[in-house]
Amino acid sequence: MKQFLTAAIVTLLMTAGYYHLQDENKSEFEIWAMKNNKYYTESEKLYRMEIYNSNKRMIEEHNQREDVTYQMGENQFMTLTHEEFVDLYLQKSEFFIDQLEVQLPEGQLEGLTAVDWRNATTVKEQGQCASGWAFSVSNSLEAWYQIRAYQKINASTQQIVDCDFNSSGCSGGYNAYAMEYVQRVGLANTSNYPYVAKNQTCKQTRNGTYFINGYSFVGGSQSNVQYYLNNYPISVGVDASNWQFYKSGLFSNCTSNGTNHYALAVGFDSANNWIVQNSWGTQWGDYGVIKLYPQNTCGILNYAFQIY
Ligand SMILES: *[C@@H]1O[C@H](CO)[C@@H](O)[C@H](O)[C@H]1NC(C)=O
Ligand SMILES: *[C@@H]1O[C@H](CO)[C@@H](O)[C@H](O)[C@H]1NC(C)=O
Ligand SMILES: *[C@@H]1O[C@H](CO)[C@@H](O)[C@H](O)[C@H]1NC(C)=O
Ligand SMILES: *[C@@H]1O[C@H](CO)[C@@H](O)[C@H](O)[C@H]1NC(C)=O
Ligand SMILES: *[C@@H]1O[C@H](CO)[C@@H](O)[C@H](O)[C@H]1NC(C)=O
Ligand SMILES: *[C@@H]1O[C@H](CO)[C@@H](O)[C@H](O)[C@H]1NC(C)=O
Ligand SMILES: *[C@@H]1O[C@H](CO)[C@@H](O)[C@H](O)[C@H]1NC(C)=O
Ligand SMILES: *[C@@H]1O[C@H](CO)[C@@H](O)[C@H](O)[C@H]1NC(C)=O
Ligand SMILES: *[C@@H]1O[C@H](CO)[C@@H](O)[C@H](O)[C@H]1NC(C)=O
Repeated sequence: MKQFLTAAIVTLLMTAGYYHLQDENKSEFEIWAMKNNKYYTESEKLYRMEIYNSNKRMIEEHNQREDVTYQMGENQFMTLTHEEFVDLYLQKSEFFIDQLEVQLPEGQLEGLTAVDWRNATTVKEQGQCASGWAFSVSNSLEAWYQIRAYQKINASTQQIVDCDFNSSGCSGGYNAYAMEYVQRVGLANTSNYPYVAKNQTCKQTRNGTYFINGYSFVGGSQSNVQYYLNNYPISVGVDASNWQFYKSGLFSNCTSNGTNHYALAVGFDSANNWIVQNSWGTQWGDYGVIKLYPQNTCGILNYAFQIY
């Protein structure tokens, strides 16, 4: 009754012009902020609102173009400039400079048309930490257990972030180093070693619970990656410079920045487009997934590693 009365009074006052309705942009921004649990100080709020509006405009303009193959959409990155996004979520491409010298096994492609392992994985959210490399490996492990043994596990990503000393935690890393670590030590259950999205000192003093037998490079050619994808998802390095607002459709708008992110290739469709699961939550992309054009789009063939 009391609530009803308050609402009625506010409505009355608004009608009488005592309360000003906020302008349309501001309320959209505020709805977004509420949904994304963002709290800003008054001065930062104005600044972030401007970025929000400018990104919104950019997305609308992109989606109205007829020459684009993918649509953009609003997500949790709406109040970040492109530079901030790159800084917070992607790693420096200079991180790995080692050349891979791997003999590729012969792939046999007969009967392979399409595969989609989204049913064996869960989309994760890395937060403000460039840990895509670690998620692509813990996700590989989870899918591997699920497909091979019908076992649903939650493997600790934070353990990789904290304990793979050859990588650089929230500043970036390399999927093959992470796999090397997982092979040697094993991963703990996430409940025992939860994700906190920041650097910590390594807390894993014993061997973990989930092990792999080994890992190998399976990239270099589309047919190789397709062949191995038929068995399990594959951890891949990508150039994600322009992925900030990807929503749906086929993406090929890559840059020449080089590999600055890792994700999980979970399949390819009948037109050979890659299906890649990211670790930026389900609000981003097509419920967390991006589709890339065939062949080496965004460098997907360059750092493709699979566990076994
Ligand atoms: C609201 O946003 C539109 C574009 O989305 C922009 O043209 C307009 O200037 C904005 N208005 C205010 C008051 O910020
Ligand atoms: C999951 O997807 C794979 C690959 O497309 C398929 O072989 C498998 O049957 C699916 N599993 C279930 C439970 O739907
Ligand atoms: C994995 O984590 C999710 C979300 O934290 C939880 O819902 C699920 O029960 C966990 N699964 C296992 C097997 O521990
Ligand atoms: C780091 O790399 C060295 C040399 O390859 C290796 O011996 C060591 O086990 C690696 N450490 C981790 C934590 O993976
Ligand atoms: C995280 O730790 C690594 C070393 O393990 C370091 O190279 C890196 O700069 C740290 N990153 C952040 C964001 O603190
Ligand atoms: C940890 O696992 C490795 C095999 O990956 C094994 O060689 C080592 O003995 C184990 N260490 C402990 C403390 O169980
Ligand atoms: C993970 O650890 C939690 C807490 O110890 C436990 O409840 C859960 O059953 C474990 N999950 C698996 C799959 O072992
Ligand atoms: C490529 O991405 C940039 C940055 O997101 C965007 O401004 C541009 O419109 C995109 N180009 C195409 C052809 O999609
Ligand atoms: C990546 O490339 C784009 C376009 O070429 C550029 O705007 C951006 O600043 C680059 N980012 C990095 C981290 O080099």
